[in-house]
Amino acid sequence: MSPLSTYNDLYQHLASTDLEPWIEPLQATVEPAILESNNGHLERWLGAIDALPQVEPSASSLSSPAIQIGRPQDITTEQRVTLPDTLHHFRPWRKGPFDFFGTHIDTEWRSDWKWDRLLPGISPLKDRLVLDIGCGSGYHCWRMAGEGARLALGTDPFLLYIMQYLAVRKYLKEPPVWVLPFGIEGLPPAIPAFDTVFSMGILYHRRSPFDHLYELRNFLRPGGELVLETIIVDGPHGYSLVPDQYYAKMKNVWFIPTVDTLVQWITRCRFRDIEVVDVSTTTTDEQRSTEWMIFESLSDFLDPTDPSKTIEGYPAPKRAVITAQAP
Ligand SMILES: C[S@@+](CC[C@H](N)C(=O)[O-])C[C@H]1O[C@@H](n2cnc3c(N)ncnc32)[C@H](O)[C@@H]1O
Repeated sequence: MSPLSTYNDLYQHLASTDLEPWIEPLQATVEPAILESNNGHLERWLGAIDALPQVEPSASSLSSPAIQIGRPQDITTEQRVTLPDTLHHFRPWRKGPFDFFGTHIDTEWRSDWKWDRLLPGISPLKDRLVLDIGCGSGYHCWRMAGEGARLALGTDPFLLYIMQYLAVRKYLKEPPVWVLPFGIEGLPPAIPAFDTVFSMGILYHRRSPFDHLYELRNFLRPGGELVLETIIVDGPHGYSLVPDQYYAKMKNVWFIPTVDTLVQWITRCRFRDIEVVDVSTTTTDEQRSTEWMIFESLSDFLDPTDPSKTIEGYPAPKRAVITAQAP
């Protein structure tokens, strides 16, 4: 069965929600976004999903730090030997961790740390319709389902991350988790139907942060919750840093506000009850190169003589999590 058949289950699931008008546009766009992507790796990735062991996992967990799929004894000794090579096809693994039948995927990011910081500060996800914009591999979407979300719908334009999601989905077929192969601009016209919308690690990549905040609001039902996570800097009220060109070797960073400025932006977009849930400096224990992400990581983006600065001399990344309610 094609791994893409999971999207048929999504359409069935949407039929029982206020997102029913999304079914037709998604039916028309999801498969072509993957199969007609002209990505030279697509065939290899789909082959690797097919080559993953055809077994039912005897156990799984969406609530442990690593999304757990099966146990080592579910697969043969030979399969245990070849599994890491098959999973290497989906490198770089950035957001996780995951555990496939005892093969631990130590991703670049300890995404579970972000989850642990934000979870106590957000409205319980039980029975909620949740949208996660720029969800990467979908790691946090699985955790949302672990909290009882009625739907955890992620979206990310980077095809490799969709393949990572589909590799997990091969085994975890039941949870209401789907990742769409689009940027936010590829989604069907917004319906104010979601109970919670996450935007994590996205705002600083947007040229117009206000437009992004308004876009997010359009997906929320009245009183629905925005969970926003972004890089911040210290500085006076109203200040935001616009890097000359690169920030921590990223060239697509536009606005990095102070926490106060961010609260002001969100207020100007007419959200209510704004709460700062967490402010943390990103450490080289949380973001680092591993066997599963062999390229440069945070320690390479910081000044080797002063890790409180980026290599360009800007303040090193600190991140804030903020919640706000849609009017
Ligand atoms: C910094 S990562 C954040 C991943 C995840 N939300 C997290 O917090 O761990 C940013 C993600 O946004 C995705 N992205 C890039 N352009 C996007 C767009 N136009 N719409 C939605 N997501 C986008 C990238 O592919 C990447 O996975």
